[in-house]
Amino acid sequence: MDNEKKIITFCLLLAGVCSLVFCEEWKASVENSLEALVSSCVVVPCSFSHPRGALPTSRLRGIWHLKDQVTKNIYHDDETKILDSFKKRTKLLGSLGQDNCTLELMPVNDHDNGPFCYRIELVKTEDNAPTIDKFSFVEECVGLKMLNDPPKPVLSHPGTATPGEPYTAVCSVRHTCPSYMPTLTWSQGTKEETFEIYQDINHGIWEVESILTFIPEEIHDTSDLTCTATFHGGRTSSAGVALNVKRAPSVNHVIIHAAVAASLAVIFGVFCVFMVKKYKNRIAELQHQDGSMWSRLSRVSRR
Ligand SMILES: *[C@@H]1O[C@H](CO)[C@@H](O)[C@H](O)[C@H]1NC(C)=O
Repeated sequence: MDNEKKIITFCLLLAGVCSLVFCEEWKASVENSLEALVSSCVVVPCSFSHPRGALPTSRLRGIWHLKDQVTKNIYHDDETKILDSFKKRTKLLGSLGQDNCTLELMPVNDHDNGPFCYRIELVKTEDNAPTIDKFSFVEECVGLKMLNDPPKPVLSHPGTATPGEPYTAVCSVRHTCPSYMPTLTWSQGTKEETFEIYQDINHGIWEVESILTFIPEEIHDTSDLTCTATFHGGRTSSAGVALNVKRAPSVNHVIIHAAVAASLAVIFGVFCVFMVKKYKNRIAELQHQDGSMWSRLSRVSRR
């Protein structure tokens, strides 16, 4: 009987420990790798799940730390526990109560490559007593690829522009800073002639697209159409194309061409008639001379 009790107690204890830490499914999902533009910002998407059902943000503590260095925090809700070099640069954008551990790093320095790992702790039990229920997802880390130069925008456009007809060009650029999207500006056209689209490409990558539709005039003929991307922090990059504005054949041009062609035809016709007349006379003259030559020759042969 005593042994039975011991076994039951042991089993209950094991079940308790098991439910607290080992056997429950705690999962975090973080991008493995993300590009980050130096001097701009980067937002690392992160989400997690736990078996405790909905928990308020106040009962959860989300921590980001350097890989294999659990005490070197880059984000912690207690600022004194953050590494000096990361103080005031990191922010949890996500709400832990909604299982969202999305991290913002701004501004990005060129030594911020990480990897940075996410760790979650349950801070209090219902009666506010400290709990041992901590969990760390050391395998869920993100490495940052530092970009020292901003990516160039991609410009797509039709080959030539026709004055008076709408011309549409599309400029797009990808980035990883959705809290402060880059802006795209054009060297031609007005703000009213542009249309912007913001897209989540997934895996932490975003795209800004600007569509410009304007009516070129002949003044634009050899000028450039440039699209400039300005990233948060002030870095810029641009892509351009020479506008080839083609003059459309106007009605006046067609009439002038037709008139010139008609005049040429008339002149040629007159010339032909004149030539025929001239040669008629000449042929007749030659025939006449021939006649006299023949008669002369026959006279000679008769002698
Ligand atoms: C997490 O929070 C970020 C920032 O507020 C938000 O953009 C993102 O959509 C959230 N993710 C999910 C899965 O709700």
